[in-house]
Amino acid sequence: MTTIGIGADDAGAPLKEHLAAYLRELGYEVVDYGNAEGDDEDYPDVAEQVAEGVASGAHERALLVCGTGLGMAITANKVPGVRAATAHDAYSAERARKSNDAQVLTMGARVIAPQAAEVVLQHWLDSEFAGGGSAPKVAKMNAVEARQRGTAGND
Ligand code: RB5
Repeated sequence: MTTIGIGADDAGAPLKEHLAAYLRELGYEVVDYGNAEGDDEDYPDVAEQVAEGVASGAHERALLVCGTGLGMAITANKVPGVRAATAHDAYSAERARKSNDAQVLTMGARVIAPQAAEVVLQHWLDSEFAGGGSAPKVAKMNAVEARQRGTAGND
């Protein structure tokens, strides 16, 4: 089994700790990039490190937590090859995998209670990219990235 990278800023640290313990209970090997509560590293710093772990193949999936989940997703999506989605409900978490092939889930500790976050995380973990009609759309997203970065045709 590949490892799951996790990270948070100060606002997300308590929920990150809660979900790290939940993942370990489920048998996942977790690589924690910090922060601990009270640390002052900002969300873009953590998101970049964790997303690079996904892009490099060190982690098949990753979980990022900040106050809203939004800054983490915006930052992670700037790392080439990474598709990060914010989800606070089970359906969106499932579709983030099945439709969008998101390898990174982000959540907001100021948005969702820990027990509800467990359910959302579980749906995301249990879902796989469905391919089919979603495959060309994900390929188009990747093509947008390549065009915007000026790397189209360099693959
Ligand atoms: C606090 O810095 C807060 O803005 C952050 O945790 C997150 O919600 C940003 O998207």
